[in-house]
Amino acid sequence: MDKPVTKQMPMPIAKSVAKSVAKADGVPTSVNVAESFNELACQLAPHYAAFKVSERILLTGHSHQAWPDITKHGMLQCFEDAACHIDDKWGLAFTQAERVRQFYRGLLGEAHGQIALGASTHELMLRFLSDLNWSKAAKQSASKPINIVTTDGEFHSLRRQLHSLRSLNINIISVPVAPLETLASRIIDELNAATAAVMVSAVFFETSVIFSDVGRVALAAKSLGIPCLVDAYHALNVVPFNLELWQLESAFIVAGGYKYCQAGEGNCMLRIPPDYHGRPLITGWFAEFDVLNQAVGEVNYGCGQAAFAGSTYDPCSHYRAAVVFDFFKQQQLSDIRLRHINQQQIKLLWQGIDSMALAPEVLYLPTHSISANGGFISLVTPKADIWVEALKQRGISSDSRGQYLRLGPAPYVTKSQLEQALNVIEDVAKQVSEG
Ligand SMILES: Cc1ncc(COP(=O)(O)O)c(C=O)c1O
Repeated sequence: MDKPVTKQMPMPIAKSVAKSVAKADGVPTSVNVAESFNELACQLAPHYAAFKVSERILLTGHSHQAWPDITKHGMLQCFEDAACHIDDKWGLAFTQAERVRQFYRGLLGEAHGQIALGASTHELMLRFLSDLNWSKAAKQSASKPINIVTTDGEFHSLRRQLHSLRSLNINIISVPVAPLETLASRIIDELNAATAAVMVSAVFFETSVIFSDVGRVALAAKSLGIPCLVDAYHALNVVPFNLELWQLESAFIVAGGYKYCQAGEGNCMLRIPPDYHGRPLITGWFAEFDVLNQAVGEVNYGCGQAAFAGSTYDPCSHYRAAVVFDFFKQQQLSDIRLRHINQQQIKLLWQGIDSMALAPEVLYLPTHSISANGGFISLVTPKADIWVEALKQRGISSDSRGQYLRLGPAPYVTKSQLEQALNVIEDVAKQVSEG
């Protein structure tokens, strides 16, 4: 057998991000550039039989990927533990939660990182918001309103929550994402003594463009003592997200397992910076598990992740996720390899659509480069919802957000499936341009 050709992965995004492939921390430090995504997809697909990934073309991998069949065992184990141990099941459930944390720590490159778990990113963002030092920001800004700086490209959980805070006289400064080249500087220009927090994405959910300068924002925020939260949901497990290399060690990170981690619902995480001792107003009683001898009437907090803990939850999500993460390990599906595979799939779709030379009113490609793209391709069209329906009728799952048609491959999507999708796109384009 030929020796596999291995070399450092080409620099995919910003220099700082790209270096993640060169770090020897137990995860693969290089990819087999000769590996074709198709070979891997064909090997993986039989492990996803229940989700019928070979019988339909699932291009919603950016929203929710299929679960490997082995997942069933994890969920059944949850049932067995509950039935067998009744209320004593919690020790076992917490072990599963720890396995989930360990996987996320690995992706962040932080072996002892502080990770609070929650059902949704919204729940975890609320805990973050409730920890902000509102009175300090209010004092420092005297009569001016308190500011939270964000962008106009944030996912609805964050956008909606922040905008509803306006009714509490909190000023939400929404910096336009475009032009991306100056985004970090424009956000930094907005930070001052009246800023309570800055909250931004690492990869934008509408366009799939990677905000590789987000580390500059985090560093500027740190120098001013402003908490910075980065929504990394569209990076986690598809764009390597080593915190040191992204210069995000001082940031709070929120993300989850429903998309590229194949872990299903209920597996979100909040990474808390080292040595940070929060006192969030909105937390559950699990936040005082570590606090001994608490006097009646007091609200005390554990350290790090413990302070951001919730309360009684459905542990089945963690049982499911832990089995999936073991499966990734067995299949050697590291984040670096997944990025390599995903970039090949995106390239095939991108170049295929490019070669159709479609009119801009029908569909057009992103203006950024393939290497600056996250896990899905986002195509602009005034008829995105019509496209989704037309593709669905021809057996292809996709989704849309406003004027963006989003196509997200997953590691089990084969070359012939993508080629089939391209043929269908060409047909639908004719239909759209005629009608
Ligand atoms: C960038 C981003 N953040 C967060 C979420 C999920 O938010 P939540 O867990 O609050 O439903 C999504 C989509 O599901 C997303 O695209």
